[in-house]
Amino acid sequence: MRYLLIAALAASPAVAQQAADAVDPEAATGLVQDAPAPVTSQDWMVAAANPLASEAGARVLREGGSAADAMVAVQAVLGLVEPQSSGLGGGAFLVYYDAETGEMTTLDGREKAPLAATPTLFQVDGDTMGFWDAVVGGLSVGTPGTPMLMEEAHRRWGTANWGGLFEDAIAHAEDGFAVSPRLAMLVADGRDRLETFADTAAYFYPDGEPIAEGDTLTNQAYADTLRAIAAHGTDAFYSGEIAEGIVAAVRANTGVTGVEGLLSMEDMAAYDVVERPAVCAPYRGAEVCGMGPPSSGALTVGQILMMLEPHDLAAMGPDDPDAWRLIGDASRLAFADRGLYMADSDFVPMPRLLDAGYMAGRAALLFGDDALPEVSAGNPPWDHAALDLAPGWSPSMPSTSHISIVDADGNALSMTTTIENGFGSRVMAPGGFLLNNELTDFSFATHDDGRPVANRVEPGKRPRSSMSPTIVMRNGTPELVVGSPGGSRIIGYVAKTIVAYMDWGLDPQEAVALPHLVNRFGTYDLEEGTTAEDLAGPLGEMGFETNVRDLTSGLHVVAVTDQGLVGGADPRREGVAIGE
Ligand code: GLY
Repeated sequence: MRYLLIAALAASPAVAQQAADAVDPEAATGLVQDAPAPVTSQDWMVAAANPLASEAGARVLREGGSAADAMVAVQAVLGLVEPQSSGLGGGAFLVYYDAETGEMTTLDGREKAPLAATPTLFQVDGDTMGFWDAVVGGLSVGTPGTPMLMEEAHRRWGTANWGGLFEDAIAHAEDGFAVSPRLAMLVADGRDRLETFADTAAYFYPDGEPIAEGDTLTNQAYADTLRAIAAHGTDAFYSGEIAEGIVAAVRANTGVTGVEGLLSMEDMAAYDVVERPAVCAPYRGAEVCGMGPPSSGALTVGQILMMLEPHDLAAMGPDDPDAWRLIGDASRLAFADRGLYMADSDFVPMPRLLDAGYMAGRAALLFGDDALPEVSAGNPPWDHAALDLAPGWSPSMPSTSHISIVDADGNALSMTTTIENGFGSRVMAPGGFLLNNELTDFSFATHDDGRPVANRVEPGKRPRSSMSPTIVMRNGTPELVVGSPGGSRIIGYVAKTIVAYMDWGLDPQEAVALPHLVNRFGTYDLEEGTTAEDLAGPLGEMGFETNVRDLTSGLHVVAVTDQGLVGGADPRREGVAIGE
């Protein structure tokens, strides 16, 4: 079905950009929405969260740059126009397929806990802090990794001149860019926390009023930072004036707890991007590959898909409640393992969570008719003496951004990038970018009942992530490049999009627009205002508790087909796919 559809799409114009058509919800009778046609192209494609960012990437690709080059240009613009989601003050994970060598590599640019941090970072007198008390202020700031990740990707796979990749972002920062509806809405809604710190307030509330949709916003400090990085590489970020500004901002902006942040110049100097093996799970004859620990993304998406593998979801289709029973309970089982076992594996040994025999045993739990009454972590095999751990909890909020790119040489890039919460720690560095609150992705509790929590804070450790940048490989080449923001719901958004494309034959735009049903810990979240709500009755009869709510993913997808590239950008946010 998918291939017939793609063949029809091949007649689309050679240069294509996403239409921003609104979907008429009345037109949809089942779960599949009447989505706009996907973007198609022959040579390259970029899909990112803001049109200016996608256009910056498109310019690089049009001029013959690689996917890595385009990512640098996209990320530099995103940090300006979508400052709430990602930027130089944050961290990222990148999955890269190199067409020349046929190799898949992942780069870990996750923030690290300061060397002075201890497991009780978010405790006062033995009690854990309130979540928001911990988020807002310098205490939650980890050493940023995104700038070094950009440079490392360019060093490995870049073909364009490094300095030139920042031109669009510098021009937008100096000449001004139009504030997008989403940025304006989030600034208006987020006033209480954003106004905690004077420099942040001055940028988002000039003259005391929130920046509004369509206002022209400039950021000279950001332009100056980009010029320094363009000229001198990221040494200019991790040492010297920019680094000193970051450390000073972390120390000075303490938030309501009054506890000073710990980031130091030593942390900045010691930061490293790490190459890690891709984590791949078999699914429908393909390999679903992504980011391993410290992200829980590829392991949890992989577990969900491996548990679904024995079931004929294609025959069921997206409107069958039993398909959602299987997806929901596979997710609950995977999230139970995530909570107990997954953390930064440089610090905590982990069992073999994708072991085929173990996964077959977990999948067997799904052969019933009703929701599982109880779900707990399993007993996967270890290469190491088994650890007796306690489950840890950390909320991981729905900010973040995702970039999917395929270049003219067939290189594919999937990168999810974040400052964690919307607007991160709310602390603005003097260099014109917000600093992350990634350390609140650690568990605030260190132990439970005498057993340690794997995702506790430790000096130099990276907090567990849910980011799931993914490349689906078939016969050794990319088939689908996908990822999303959305906190720990990222995992559900990505797994569902893969099922929608691979099992249900939806095109990439239909797949990203498909209403969400996400289950992590037992309650089934159904996307408000969509036909997902119609499944509340049948899922309730199976024993699920359901909850209707906003589910604001930001999926960006590029599919590689025999007829060319096919892209999708999430209608829930402002992104576009552009291809030629
Ligand atoms: N801070 C979002 C994540 O890493 O999952």
